[in-house]
Amino acid sequence: MDGNRAKKKGVKKARHELMVKFPTAGIVSNQPITCMDGHSPDGLLLLFLKHHCLRCESSFWYSGGFDEHNEVMHDEEIVCSTCKQVVDHSAVHTLKNKYIFLILVFLLGIPPSLSVPTKPRIFNCQRPKSRRASASSESRPRLATAPPLRLFGSVATMCGIFAYLNYNVGRERRYILEVLLNGLRRLEYRGYDSSGIAIDSDMSSVMQSKSKPYDTAPPVVFRQEGKIESLVTSVYSEVDKLDLDLEKPFLVHAGIAHTRWATHGVPAPRNSHPQSSGEFDEFLVVHNGIITNYEVLKQTLVRHGFTFESDTDTEVIPKLAKFVFDKASDGEGGVTFSQVVMEVMRQLEGAYALIFKSPHYPNELIACKRGSTLLLGVNELGGETSRHLFHDVKALTANDKPKELFFSSDLCAIVEHTKNYAAVEDDEIVHIKDGSVSILKFDYEKEKPASVQRALSVLEMEVEQIKKGDFDHFMKKEIHEQPDSLTTSMRGRLKDGVVGLGGLKDHMRTIRRSRRIIFIGCGTSYHAALAARPIMEELTDIPVTMEIASDMLDRKALIFKEDTAVFVSQSGETADTLLALEYALQHGALCVGVTNTVGSTLARKTHCGVHINAGCEIGVASTKAYTCQIVVMVMMALAIGSDKMSTLAKREAIIAGLTKLPEKVHDVLKLDGEMKALAQSLIDEQSLLMFGRGNNYATALEGALKVKEVALMHSEGMLAGEMKHGPLALVDEYLPIIVIATRDDSFSKQQSVIQQLHARKGRLIVMCSEGDASLVCPDGRSRVIEVPRIVDCLQSIINIIPMQLLAYHLTVLRGYNVDQPRNLAKSVTTQ
Ligand code: AGP
Repeated sequence: MDGNRAKKKGVKKARHELMVKFPTAGIVSNQPITCMDGHSPDGLLLLFLKHHCLRCESSFWYSGGFDEHNEVMHDEEIVCSTCKQVVDHSAVHTLKNKYIFLILVFLLGIPPSLSVPTKPRIFNCQRPKSRRASASSESRPRLATAPPLRLFGSVATMCGIFAYLNYNVGRERRYILEVLLNGLRRLEYRGYDSSGIAIDSDMSSVMQSKSKPYDTAPPVVFRQEGKIESLVTSVYSEVDKLDLDLEKPFLVHAGIAHTRWATHGVPAPRNSHPQSSGEFDEFLVVHNGIITNYEVLKQTLVRHGFTFESDTDTEVIPKLAKFVFDKASDGEGGVTFSQVVMEVMRQLEGAYALIFKSPHYPNELIACKRGSTLLLGVNELGGETSRHLFHDVKALTANDKPKELFFSSDLCAIVEHTKNYAAVEDDEIVHIKDGSVSILKFDYEKEKPASVQRALSVLEMEVEQIKKGDFDHFMKKEIHEQPDSLTTSMRGRLKDGVVGLGGLKDHMRTIRRSRRIIFIGCGTSYHAALAARPIMEELTDIPVTMEIASDMLDRKALIFKEDTAVFVSQSGETADTLLALEYALQHGALCVGVTNTVGSTLARKTHCGVHINAGCEIGVASTKAYTCQIVVMVMMALAIGSDKMSTLAKREAIIAGLTKLPEKVHDVLKLDGEMKALAQSLIDEQSLLMFGRGNNYATALEGALKVKEVALMHSEGMLAGEMKHGPLALVDEYLPIIVIATRDDSFSKQQSVIQQLHARKGRLIVMCSEGDASLVCPDGRSRVIEVPRIVDCLQSIINIIPMQLLAYHLTVLRGYNVDQPRNLAKSVTTQ
């Protein structure tokens, strides 16, 4: 075959591929096109390219193209539409926009404004010269596939998704409903402004009069604003109205559920999930995440006759599924559920975990994810669940054993059903059909997904962890769990006076040689790092700087490859922290994670790290995770500094302190009643100040955060050294001020702060070490909280506990929701 024929064949193939994939497209140009180097492509796939002008910082669109070898081409000179200057070719965002363009073509066909050039144009071909020479029909044009997208431009929103499928085991509708609703109760901490579920109706009931486009029972969707209990009430009243038989058994049934923390659109039933493809609910989707290109998808779907009812980004997903399904069904042969979902995934940008349900595929469920956490739980009934590898359709389930399968955003919704689970990885599609589980790996570059093998893991979590037990609230339970959580955090890591942190050992040399350590986190996690900073500097002799993740990104802070960046996050899913991690990775720093969440994005994306093992923390206000984070960072300091003789005595004192820590925490928890009484005295206050310094500056910030977060009272933590530089003006006999003055190097300075506050008739509550009451408050006028004394770097762990108790009691006494404070979610996964 000669070169010309080969080229033509390449174009033809490309065009054919394009037509097959995008039936409405007619986009390959036959107009004369010449490259600057004289190369004349046989065809050109036109598209809009996005340009960024470095002079005026504006972006604009410009038409360019891909030739038959899938190489980018555009005019020799690109002029900024705003400042009219020529822009640098390298500022062309080609790949992303090729993708957007292909979606447009896919959905709309070629827009008139983008039709083939009317006159011959000379394009600047970006192909490297060497490749130009050898370009031939062998280079398979890949016009129809989009490149992999970066995930970190956006990060998943907080929401909870859950699904339950029973196979070969009879379950009444009431039972199925309860499993779904209970799953949502477990996930409610992730979002609590609205929720919804979808189950199957009966063939004889809902919508039978209408001519639906499938033969199976239509789903029924329940969506409600407010907490899960509002959904529960509305479900049962709707069930009555719809005359659904709650006792009807299903041998196999697939249900999906969602709890929402609103980002796109106010909390309202229409914005709740499951979101639907439209009439007859042909495709239903629950989603945790953000679809960043939903607007362009929405516009194109609207042009194809779809009507949108919600303000959510999610609604494009089921509608896109229907669009793909309809298009595929028009052609020869059917399309499988996983093919539909794969095509949908190809079009989505952003981060997500999705579960699909469709009456076109009764009793099947599909879940897929990119960015957000998604877990599969497997409970084989009547025997041990096989934990061996399962794959493709043979799956787990090459048997017809009765089983229950679950999808969930969090293990805490699965643990009461099974301990066997698998974490779904990015770009995987998990298809449950006929009781078997197949996992497919989606790849933009490939037409066919590869089948994936995955072993089930055994969950090391007890059901008790997700229950309140004898406590009224999770926050209280978690505060009181701290002696145990700290013990678990240290377990196996302190042996014969030596700290061993398996997750760091391979990187210890690099950490010791780093130019500086940067602690990065948000909220409470940032405070934990701040509490550990002094000891990290003292034991390692490495400068430690602090970064609030969002600020680091705003400033585009300097970060170097000689840096060790330590990312601290309870959830491991906080957007700002993950974006900062992405930034640090790009700059070549060694990235270390400190997280409570095994399998979280933070755990997966950092080079190394330490799990804090605090156990499941459900209360939105972080308590036990905070103290365990400090302990882990203190242990890190001990491990990094373990080669220094000069600090041996200090290290020994800390290790002795760590051994006593759980017991001391147990003792300080006895202040519960005293803190309740203090809360009672502060119940009507508008504001509360907390002063700390040194090891306890973090305690002041964290104590104040706890009070404002749950008790909804203005509270500010301040560095005591800054008091006389402004805050002193606030002091009078009414404003309550907590001063932390436990024993350490800062003690005498804090004594002088107390004197200065007394001199201004300040209303003080002083926290001091046991036996120091008369030293910090000689005239007996102030309220004193005496706490057990421990080595300085662990004192902040002891000191925060009375503050946690105070915040808790203030909240209860003021009548606010302790575990789900207004406007907050457990982890903040939006920027
Ligand atoms: C803690 O009480 C808060 N809910 C909040 O500040 C939290 O610590 C912060 O959002 C960071 O979360 P992370 O630890 O999961 O990253």
